[in-house]
Amino acid sequence: MTIRGNWDPRRAEAVSRMGEIDRRKFVKLTGASAAALVFGYGPSTEKVWARPAFSGYPFRLGVASGDPEPDGVVLWTRLAPEPLADNGFGGMPKDQAVEVRWEVAKDENFRRTVRQGKTVARPRLGHSVHVEVSGLLPGREYFYRFRAGDATSPVGKTKTAPALGAAVPELTFAVVSCQQYEHGYFTAYRRLAEEDLDLVVHLGDYIYEYGPNEYRAPGGNVRVHEGGEITTLAAYRRRHAQYRSDRDLRAAHAAFPFVVTWDDHEVENNYADEIPETGQSPTAFLQRRANAYQAYYENMPLRRRSVPEGPDMLLYRRLAYGNLVEFNVLDTRQYRDDQAADDGTDPPNPEQQDPGRTLTGEEQERWLLDGLAASGATWNVLAQQVFFAQRDFQIGEGQRLSMDAWDGYIGSRDRISNFILERDVPNPVVLTGDVHNNWACDLKADYDDQTSETFGVEFVGTSITSGGDGADTSPGQQATVAENPHIKFFNGQRGYIRCTLTPEEWRADYRVVPYVSQPGAPVYTRASFVTLAGNPGLVPVNENPVQGTTSSTMAIESDAERAEAQREADRKRR
Ligand SMILES: [Fe+2]
Repeated sequence: MTIRGNWDPRRAEAVSRMGEIDRRKFVKLTGASAAALVFGYGPSTEKVWARPAFSGYPFRLGVASGDPEPDGVVLWTRLAPEPLADNGFGGMPKDQAVEVRWEVAKDENFRRTVRQGKTVARPRLGHSVHVEVSGLLPGREYFYRFRAGDATSPVGKTKTAPALGAAVPELTFAVVSCQQYEHGYFTAYRRLAEEDLDLVVHLGDYIYEYGPNEYRAPGGNVRVHEGGEITTLAAYRRRHAQYRSDRDLRAAHAAFPFVVTWDDHEVENNYADEIPETGQSPTAFLQRRANAYQAYYENMPLRRRSVPEGPDMLLYRRLAYGNLVEFNVLDTRQYRDDQAADDGTDPPNPEQQDPGRTLTGEEQERWLLDGLAASGATWNVLAQQVFFAQRDFQIGEGQRLSMDAWDGYIGSRDRISNFILERDVPNPVVLTGDVHNNWACDLKADYDDQTSETFGVEFVGTSITSGGDGADTSPGQQATVAENPHIKFFNGQRGYIRCTLTPEEWRADYRVVPYVSQPGAPVYTRASFVTLAGNPGLVPVNENPVQGTTSSTMAIESDAERAEAQREADRKRR
C-alpha cells in the first residue's frame, strides 16, 4: 500500500519556495557539510571575540545536557547576558563569535576532570553551544560546566546510558510536557529536580507561541509572556529565553539529561507539516516554521544531526538503555497530513479512516517499524506527542474522536498496532503529552471490541503548568473514562510521571502538585500502575487521597475547553 504525503518531494518543493531564507544554501549541501559549516569545521570568516567583556552574567539561561549514549552526552549552554534583548541576541554582539571552554568531571568540585575542550558560540546559532562529549564511561554520573571570558557557568549533572546491550537492573526517568509559562509556576520541575532520576523525557509544548494573556487558564493566568505572538527568529529566541529565566526549569535541566521532542506550540497551535492552523500562506508559514525550528535547536541539548535546514529538522531518533529499554522518540508534527474534517472533535469520517493518510510520514513510519523489529530490548517505547489509544468523547450512542490525535489518523495507528501484534514486539509502551491531564490506557487490537487483545499500555502525562491548578476529576471526565473501558485512570492536576523500569515490571507513579497558581507546592503520588513484562495491560497498585480540589468541572481544562481556549487565543490575535 502506498502512503500519501510522501515527504521528500514535498520537502523539495517547500525548500524551493524558501528563497528568502538565508540558510537555504544548507539544503544544497550534504548533512555533513552543512554541519561543518555551522560548527566551523570548515573554513570560517567569522571573527572570534578575543577578550570578551559581557554586559552581564552570560550564563543566565543555565546549562543542560541531553541524548545520553553509553560513551557520552551532549552539553548545552547559550550565552545571553540580557536574555530578553529585542534583537534576539541576548545582549551578545550579533557579528562576533565567542570561545567557550567546557569541562567534565567525576566530582562537582572538578578535582577529577575527565574531559575538557573548547568550542565556539556563534551568532548564527544565537551564541548557543552543543558539545558532543565522548570517551566517557557507560552508566556513570558526571558533572560539567562552561567558561566564557571570566565567567563560569552553573554546574550541571548528567548521566551516560549503560553499555550497548548490557543487562540493566533498573532505570528511573520522568515524563514531562506542556509548560505554558503564564498558566502557573514551574513547581513540578522544582520537585522533579529533587528526585533521583537517570533521565527526563520531554514530549513537547516546551514554549507557547501566544501573546500576553491570549491563552488563559481556567483560573486565570499568573504570569505574562513578553512580547506579542511570536513569528520571527528574534521573537522565538526571546520566548525560549523567557522560559529559561525560570529557576525551577533551569534546576531540572541542571539535574538530569533531557531527551526532548516537540509538539505543536513550539511553532503554532495544531499545525500539520506545512499547513498552518489558519491564516498564513504555506510559504509564510514555512518561514515561520524555519524560525521556530532554529530557535528550538539553539535552545535544546540536541546533537548535530538535528541542525535545522531551513524549514526542516530531523528530530526523530532512537536511544537505548542497555537491553532494558529502547526509546523511539517520534515527531508527529513535521510530516503529518492535515487534520481530517477540518480538525476538532468529530464522528468517524471517511477522511479520518483513509489508510493513505499519515501522522508520521512514510519515512519515519518505516524507520519506526524497522527499529521495533530489530529491537532486543525488554521495553519498547514510543515517546511521542498525541493520544494514541482511542478516546470516544460521545457518551452513549455514536462516537466523537479528536482529529488531531492518532484517532484522526486511523491508517497510521493501525499499521503500527498491527505490526506490533503480528511481530509480537515485546512490551510496547506509549508515552504521551499534549492533553494537559493524566490518563492511563490499555492498548487494544480493536477498541470497539473490549474482548480483543491488549497488546501494550499508554501513559499519558499531565502538563507542568498548562491548564492551571486543575482538579482531581469531574463528572464529565469520569463519564469519558466509563465510556472507554480500556482507559483506566484520569487526573486533572499538574505534574509529571515517574517511571521505574526493571526487566520484570514497569511502574508509573503519577506525581502531582495540588496547585501551580502560587509557588512552593509539595508533590505527591496520586496513583501508581504497573505493567508486567510479557503480560500486557495495566495493574493498579496504589491510590492516594487527593490533595487540592477533588472534583470540579470549572477547574479542569477538558480537551474541548483546551481546544476552545486556543481557538479563542487565535481570535484575539487576529
Ligand atoms: Fe500543550
